Amino acid sequence: MKTIKVGIIGSGGIAAQHAAAYAKLPFVEVTAVADVIPGRAQQFIERQGLDSAAAYESHEALLQQDVDAVSICTPNVSHHRTSVDSLLAGKQVLLEKPMSVTLAEALEMADAARATGNMLSIGFQPRYDPNMKLLQQIVQSGRLGHVYYVETGGGRRRGMPGGTFISKELAGAGAMADIGCYSLDMALNAMGYPRPLTVSAFTTNHFGRNPIYHPEADRFEVEDFGAAMVRFENDVVLQFKISWAMHMDTLGSTMFLGTDAGLKVTPYGSGPWSGVWDGKVGSMTMFHDEFGGHTSTEVPLIHHELNLFYEKVRDFAEAVRDGRPAPIPGEQIVIQQAIIDGVLRSSQERKEVSVELPGNVVALPVVS
Ligand SMILES: NC(=O)c1ccc[n+]([C@@H]2O[C@H](COP(=O)([O-])OP(=O)(O)OC[C@H]3O[C@@H](n4cnc5c(N)ncnc54)[C@H](O)[C@@H]3O)[C@@H](O)[C@H]2O)c1
Repeated sequence: MKTIKVGIIGSGGIAAQHAAAYAKLPFVEVTAVADVIPGRAQQFIERQGLDSAAAYESHEALLQQDVDAVSICTPNVSHHRTSVDSLLAGKQVLLEKPMSVTLAEALEMADAARATGNMLSIGFQPRYDPNMKLLQQIVQSGRLGHVYYVETGGGRRRGMPGGTFISKELAGAGAMADIGCYSLDMALNAMGYPRPLTVSAFTTNHFGRNPIYHPEADRFEVEDFGAAMVRFENDVVLQFKISWAMHMDTLGSTMFLGTDAGLKVTPYGSGPWSGVWDGKVGSMTMFHDEFGGHTSTEVPLIHHELNLFYEKVRDFAEAVRDGRPAPIPGEQIVIQQAIIDGVLRSSQERKEVSVELPGNVVALPVVS
């Protein structure tokens, strides 16, 4: 069996999850780690017991090495440069979410994947939850009829990170990019990633900028709350809201309203950090009419013990080994990035903005 040589770019918090997952795969060897903070990659190598890995202080230096694939685990703003450089250097790429900050960056990244034929896969581990797959199957099956309205998002009552996540220069965006991207992926993937036409949005940071609520309020530069209305081709509308902090228990369920049935989905877990779609499904209920009356059906959930993070890394590594296409292709996630880009523009301009996507961004069929 061919050994896949992997490099890890960025050796902070999430990189440890990648290293742990690769360690369980007998056909993978992590041979290189890069971090721009001097000494950090070497410390990571020692901490993770990556005996065959060498340390580098830039992604460019790592990309000169003989590695087949890279995991990119750097802050959001550097996703664009590191992934384009990796693709052009002939590497297969597993990139942490969100794909990028701006749409222009995402388009360039998708173009680089297309032009080189190398894969750019985006790390949305909730896709590996069997109940997320079930949700997609239900919506795509047509059982709901024409899905004309979708509401999603989520809210932490109090769950604002610090560090690189609150820096405009490093993260680019806040709650929208950190956790909003999960709920957008869940809804858009179920809808078949239709093409957005317009976005009208509003973002704030009343909690992050207030020292009562955030210990680093003076350097909090991103949004902690966002709400948006997105219009798509095919007469579909998505309402989207996300919060890192609020005076409320929940921002509500995710719902798909169709002409034949509606589907309500709640997230798994409880407590101030729950209520966002970075984890599992808690319940799924279908609302429909039978024999002239209103009724509802509880969709039986699939019980499992999968480590979703491991599943995402495993699927990527096996795709590299087997020459399969990217499990979660950047070419598709461009559409989500167009929405996040639209949210940030609309909020700044205080008006509805158009979303311009080139013709080669192909929408999957919308359920009708
Ligand atoms: N999928 C998930 O569940 C999940 C969870 C947490 C974070 N993330 C994502 O992972 C990314 C990193 O998050 P984190 O929590 O690990 O951040 P972090 O700040 O802990 O680590 C990032 C590391 O990257 C290094 N770095 C920055 N620019 C670099 C470059 N150009 N080349 C090499 N190294 C560079 C930094 O020095 C730092 O050590 C973010 O985009 C975040 O959204 C995903």
